[in-house]
Amino acid sequence: MSERLWGGRFTQEPDQVLEAFNSSIGFDIRLYREEIAGSMAHCRMLAKQGILTEEEAARLIEALGQIQRDIERGRYQDLSPYEDIHHLVERALVERVGELGEKLHTARSRNDQVALDVRLYVRGQTEQIITLIRELQKALVKRAEENLGVILPGYTHLQRAQPVLLSHHLMAYFEMLQRDVARFQDSLKRVNVLPLGSAALAGTTFDLDRSAVAQELGFARVSQNSMDAVSDRDFVLEFLFCAAVTMMHLSRMGEEIVIWSSQEFGFVSIPDALATGSSIMPQKKNPDIPELVRGKTGRVYGNLLSLLTTMKGLPLTYNKDMQEDKEPLFDTTDNLKASLEVMASLVGALEFNKEVMEEAAGKGYLVATDLAEYLVGKGVPFRKAHEVVGRIVLHAIEKGVELDGLTLEEMQSFSRHIEEDVYEWLTPSRSIERRSLEGGTGHQSVKMQIQRAKKELGL
Ligand code: ARG
Repeated sequence: MSERLWGGRFTQEPDQVLEAFNSSIGFDIRLYREEIAGSMAHCRMLAKQGILTEEEAARLIEALGQIQRDIERGRYQDLSPYEDIHHLVERALVERVGELGEKLHTARSRNDQVALDVRLYVRGQTEQIITLIRELQKALVKRAEENLGVILPGYTHLQRAQPVLLSHHLMAYFEMLQRDVARFQDSLKRVNVLPLGSAALAGTTFDLDRSAVAQELGFARVSQNSMDAVSDRDFVLEFLFCAAVTMMHLSRMGEEIVIWSSQEFGFVSIPDALATGSSIMPQKKNPDIPELVRGKTGRVYGNLLSLLTTMKGLPLTYNKDMQEDKEPLFDTTDNLKASLEVMASLVGALEFNKEVMEEAAGKGYLVATDLAEYLVGKGVPFRKAHEVVGRIVLHAIEKGVELDGLTLEEMQSFSRHIEEDVYEWLTPSRSIERRSLEGGTGHQSVKMQIQRAKKELGL
């Protein structure tokens, strides 16, 4: 380990076991951009307040820029000499500008520094994730628009329930993702608070200009309590929760694609380029992408639970336990972003087997509710109508036909209210047409959903 950040009061060198166990550089190296941006802002402010000279600040800022380039060029292959990203940057500064490098830590602690880095990171990732969600929404809206008119069964309990437009089904996912975007956007209000200036836990004796740093780094506010600021990881938890909900949505979508691509359903085909084979069964074509998305959802949930559990027993303020926030955070961002990307590709490329869908929508008495509603229109109370139609369905099942395969006389033997016009209520397309109420599966309603969605997406 190159010179520690805390050697003075120690009489022994750190044990290697401690060094390896304590170090976070292996993963927090990812925060180098945030660390350097935060350091530059701190540095400028120290000069503005007369705590550093302008000349000192200029040298430090130049060196910080060089360190960033060094990291990006892969100069730091061996990370073992460093405890964490804060240590690495400070050591690199000292290497470049000598003792001056040690001045940057004035009025700052790793405790407020790491809180700052993680906030900047979460903010950046949230913005990227929102963009990726938007891309997936675009793919859904495009497919919904292309396939307007395609009918398939809608399900409850995975039993055929009522006919719906494929576009309506696709737009349901658009809505889920809308809420995900809104949730992430809202969470940014609580991310976008500057913790720097809290120092270790109690604030600092130096006359800092916290607002100037907040402004430079694009924070809306500065934290109001230094003890809270260094021990708060709510914003990470909230991010992990938002990610978990988004993954849950992707997982449900994945599950449907898995089911729909089975031979039993056959509603969709996954193009070869996005499917995989089996090493033993030559005929297999497997939906690995949606399965993996479904699988990754578990670990993203686990990451949320992991940090909630880490935080639950911590006394104020900073505790080293909190170093454990980073791996779940990084793992979540990686897996969520990758899942959003692959799902956008998959949704864009799925082949919809329209005939199979439409045939399925025509079988299984999916218009039974329509027949009950027809009877209501003829003055029959709904509960009674439901009972009558139940009996008609049973009769049709016994006869082995759909409802429109029954003769008028047959139906009239169950209810004298049934007339010739009943057949207009017994096809899937008519069933859909009658549901143009806002939010329903009728063409008008779905067109409106698509229109609003396109406006929302700037299309
Ligand atoms: N690597 C540490 C973390 O990720 C940085 C903060 C260290 N602070 C301390 N008081 N030891 O949490």
